[in-house]
Amino acid sequence: MSKVSIIGAGFVGSTIAHWAMISGGCQVVLVDVVDGLAQGKVLDLIQAGPIAGHSIDAVGTTDYAETANSDLVIITAGVARKPGMTREDLVGINAKIVSDVVQQVTPRSPNATLLIMTNPLDTMTYLAYKLSGFPRERVVGQAGVLDGGRMRTFIAMESGVNPENIHTTVLGGHGDEMVPLVRYSTIAGLPLSYFLSPEQIDRIVARTRDGGAEIVRYLKTGSAYYAPGAAACKMAQAIIQDAHQIYPASVYLQGEYGLEDICFGVPVVLGRGGVQRILELELNDEERAALMRSADLIRSTMAHLKL
Ligand code: 2OP
Repeated sequence: MSKVSIIGAGFVGSTIAHWAMISGGCQVVLVDVVDGLAQGKVLDLIQAGPIAGHSIDAVGTTDYAETANSDLVIITAGVARKPGMTREDLVGINAKIVSDVVQQVTPRSPNATLLIMTNPLDTMTYLAYKLSGFPRERVVGQAGVLDGGRMRTFIAMESGVNPENIHTTVLGGHGDEMVPLVRYSTIAGLPLSYFLSPEQIDRIVARTRDGGAEIVRYLKTGSAYYAPGAAACKMAQAIIQDAHQIYPASVYLQGEYGLEDICFGVPVVLGRGGVQRILELELNDEERAALMRSADLIRSTMAHLKL
């Protein structure tokens, strides 16, 4: 049985805990520094188990000792953005929180894979990689599964085709310069242009890039959590079940895509031990330029880190 610790019992963390308990096959530890928050949410979740027919194998705590020997640690702790803010605006406050979490969890679970959810995502993944001292395979950030899921939703809405038939590829940073790759997105293997006009495709790309902000504008006091939680759960399952599944993930690059010393969203094979392989897609000049713009935005955010 794998042990999965989730740090931060806010909306994202508790939604992941819920998905994990429905999926089963793992012991869940939910941690929050706010006394009672993780304990209360887990008590509620395990009481749902007998009713909904899911696992009750979970602990809620303020004590990092409970996370010892985790196979996977999912870091959601941090502040969410408010309307008008970019994810990059969160770097100062969330860097302190993520640093503290990494220092707490890594000595207790030296063999774990870290899955980062906190924004600004790629910069927080970089910070966790640097502070943990873990090999790059075991520090991944979730973004492309969420952004790709949003793009699938919008394609389904515009085309009327079942999302199960839709495959998307969204690479680069989880910021306003993310790169939805139309050429690597298909409907049942057919190009998007078979079903959609150029105007529809442009609208889908723009709405995907704005997907997180669109929800923040509605919620006003926070950001999305159902789709981010589902995305984290998919990645977690691939890791703990050693599923060898291909997902986009933010990983530390050492020359891939012409980039170095940056965490950036690229397609990877995920399984036990994290990233088993990084896949390099062939890109045309326009796609490459879009990825470089995305990397520039991450680098400008990384400049605020004090490492
Ligand atoms: C989003 O895109 C919170 O970054 C997350 O919704």
